[in-house]
Amino acid sequence: MFPKVVQVNENYLKLKAGYLFPEISKRVNLHSQKNFSSELIKLGIGDVTEPLPRSCVDAMQNALVEMSTNKGFRGYGPEQGYLWLREKIAENEFISKGCQIVPEEIFVSDGSKCDSSNILDILGNDNLIAVTDPVYPVYVDSNVMTGRTGFANDNGSYEGLTYIAINEDNNFKPEIPKEKVDIIYLCFPNNPTGATVSKKELKDWVDYANRNNSLIFFDAAYEAFIQDGNIPHSIYEIEGSKNCAIEFRSFSKNAGFTGVRCAYTVIPKNLSGRNSKGEEINIWSLWNRRQSTKFNGVSYIVQRGAEAVYSNQGKKEVEKLINFYMNNASIMRNKLMQAGFKVFGGLNAPYIWIKVPDQMTSWDFFDYLLEKANVVGTPGSGFGLAGEGYFRLSAFNTLTNVNAAMERIINI
Ligand code: MLT
Repeated sequence: MFPKVVQVNENYLKLKAGYLFPEISKRVNLHSQKNFSSELIKLGIGDVTEPLPRSCVDAMQNALVEMSTNKGFRGYGPEQGYLWLREKIAENEFISKGCQIVPEEIFVSDGSKCDSSNILDILGNDNLIAVTDPVYPVYVDSNVMTGRTGFANDNGSYEGLTYIAINEDNNFKPEIPKEKVDIIYLCFPNNPTGATVSKKELKDWVDYANRNNSLIFFDAAYEAFIQDGNIPHSIYEIEGSKNCAIEFRSFSKNAGFTGVRCAYTVIPKNLSGRNSKGEEINIWSLWNRRQSTKFNGVSYIVQRGAEAVYSNQGKKEVEKLINFYMNNASIMRNKLMQAGFKVFGGLNAPYIWIKVPDQMTSWDFFDYLLEKANVVGTPGSGFGLAGEGYFRLSAFNTLTNVNAAMERIINI
């Protein structure tokens, strides 16, 4: 008899390798130990580099001082977020753009990465799940961790997941599946490819979902980078979407809150699923219940900072940040094209997706760039099998570093 020991969640043992970004850090650290004198430029993880908008900082400072007084002190806030922030989000992100989203449908949180994983808590394990390939790895790993997949095959694809390949042939736009899937993850502007969808293309997805009683998880964390006025910022710009879509939004990339932590998830009040008896169950209520139990809300100080994004000054500052990173993206696109690379993305997204030179794998190119140019990017294969042969460069860095990195790459 074995002594009784704690059992682990064996689904974690199915996970192929370390999460992509820690794996990159590991290789970069090893490289740095050997080459400590050379200066590394990191265009790998999509983490912002510019300081926080002044209006957000002022708002957070004021909130902190408020909390130091008897009158202004606050303890636990509403798990769903303070109504004043939800109202500002509803007005500025949705109502003003013709989307009928009310504050109660907005759940403020500490990140889209957490929300897009935690949402699985309220959905059954037997749903058929579809992801694009390549894909933001969190969608796949969170399904693996919660037992919604089988094991990975030699290619790293998990049994039980439907992969929709996005590649040069389809302009990195996923094709509507022929078969029925229950849950579909869509991310536009796309991480990692930087691709976008038109309203018409998104409408096709919404129609598919409504026809098949499917649910779309729409990750719009990069919507602020859209430059083209015809590209939808929200799935709720599409008719019929309130019956079939949940949207994830974040202050991380527009207002530089990656280290501050504030995001929100939109769940339409009438969105429903079914229980095993076939009875209709309201999804908004389940998420509300989940958040009330497992989450104590985002801090008052941070929510005041997020609210300032919608002040006149805040809007100007955020626009300046977006323009700054998109200027980086444009420089990178031009320089890389001049250097002979096939370049995608970077027009409405802070990610540039390039084809790696012939005969190299994505990880070969990662090592090559690290070794020869001291530049860190992200191997496309880290986002899935169909990402093999591609490489992602992030436009989040200083102008000096972006220019230097491009010179180094060109001059290898
Ligand atoms: C990325 O590099 O893909 C992003 O940093 C991921 C994230 O926002 O979690």
